[in-house]
Amino acid sequence: KSKPLWNSCFQQSTNEFLQQFNECITVDEVFYHEDIAGSIAHVSMLAECKIIETHEKDLIVKTLKEIEYDIEHGKVELKVELEDIHMNIESELIRRIGNVGRKLHTGRSRNDQVALDLRLFTRKHIKSLVQLLLDIVKQLTKLAHQHKQDIMPGFTHFQFAQPISLGHYMLAYASMFRRDIERLLDCRKRVNENPLGSAALAGTTHPIDRYRTTQLLNFDSPCGNSLDGISDRDFIIEFLSHCSITVMHLSRISEEFIIFMNPRFDYVALPDSLLTGSSIMPQKKNPDILELIRGKTGRVYGNLFNILTVMKSQPLAYNKDSQECKQPLVDTVETLDMCLTALKLILSNVQFNTSQMYTTAGQGFSVATDIADYLVKKDIPFRSCHEIVGKIIKLCIQEGKKLHHLSLEELKQIDAHIEEDIYQVLSVDKSVEQKDHVGATSPRQVQVQVEVFESFAKDV
Ligand code: ARG
Repeated sequence: KSKPLWNSCFQQSTNEFLQQFNECITVDEVFYHEDIAGSIAHVSMLAECKIIETHEKDLIVKTLKEIEYDIEHGKVELKVELEDIHMNIESELIRRIGNVGRKLHTGRSRNDQVALDLRLFTRKHIKSLVQLLLDIVKQLTKLAHQHKQDIMPGFTHFQFAQPISLGHYMLAYASMFRRDIERLLDCRKRVNENPLGSAALAGTTHPIDRYRTTQLLNFDSPCGNSLDGISDRDFIIEFLSHCSITVMHLSRISEEFIIFMNPRFDYVALPDSLLTGSSIMPQKKNPDILELIRGKTGRVYGNLFNILTVMKSQPLAYNKDSQECKQPLVDTVETLDMCLTALKLILSNVQFNTSQMYTTAGQGFSVATDIADYLVKKDIPFRSCHEIVGKIIKLCIQEGKKLHHLSLEELKQIDAHIEEDIYQVLSVDKSVEQKDHVGATSPRQVQVQVEVFESFAKDV
């Protein structure tokens, strides 16, 4: 068994249960690349500052790169008794090159290694999540362009409200995912600070150059306070908050597609390759993929609350509690990565039953507001128009008729201002086409917004 690097003042070896309880290598092995990149930057700076010799740095860097290669290829046994990725790598370095390897940890602590790895890992995943979100925004924009002329029912309270363009609906989700991208990029500024040099908590007596490691690791600046540098996990909390908002958006579109796939709606269909069956009911084709996206929301919200609670009441500076931040971070990026990949797959395979959408777009008296607006144009105050149309609807309900079934005579009896041109107002096409100001649902405005999204996607 390997000995930890910290127990020379101990009279007893570590209790076996404690070793298991204490470890996090089963979670943080995914940080090996970040940990080695951090060590290479640190040791390069040590040599430049003449704290160690250049040939020592060269040997350490070369060996660290070999270790990285070997970890990647499963050739390094990561040991639970060495607790975490930081001590596993350092021990392996010392095992390979002896005394020179023992110089790597000069002027640094595992505490700043932990903080560093978490920041580099978060930064890397902000980049890949933004890319996935951008792909989704692009797909939605493309669908919006294709379907701007297609009309579907728009809902409020999940009751038929007013007809809308299917393209407009697509861009509503594109708007949410665009904000998600913007939030992640904003959060990156606070992630991108260099904690290296905080050492255990107070800094170090060695003449280190924190600006140099900042530059080598592409950080924007060094963290300005060493106590905060090693103990701050706000950047993860912030990142997980944004991830929670994203997964909430994912759950909304998933829920809608699930409902729209029900034959009662029949608006949306997925190919068999994206459906799953039942072990007892031979006829079933289920949207598990959408349900899983919806269901995984719980994990991401849970991870956010996990970290918030782990960090609550922790005194300065580092406490072992903080080790518990690693798992929810790793789980969140893995979960979100999969959910976004799933949605990408769905959006590139989904079929919209546009004729069914069109046929049902007029249901539930969905052009009622258009009639009220028609009367406003005859110089009747809106509140009175609302009342008049209410009476028209009441008549329809009583007679079991649709709006366009009413005769001009019947309509005129309710209000004398109504004329033959009312029948034009009753079409869902007109209803959509005439909502033609910025942000509204007319095909023309949807096209304007499609172009806004196209140029957003180019600029990110
Ligand atoms: N395994 C710990 C973690 O990942 C390392 C903490 C190092 N500091 C300490 N004093 N134990 O958070």
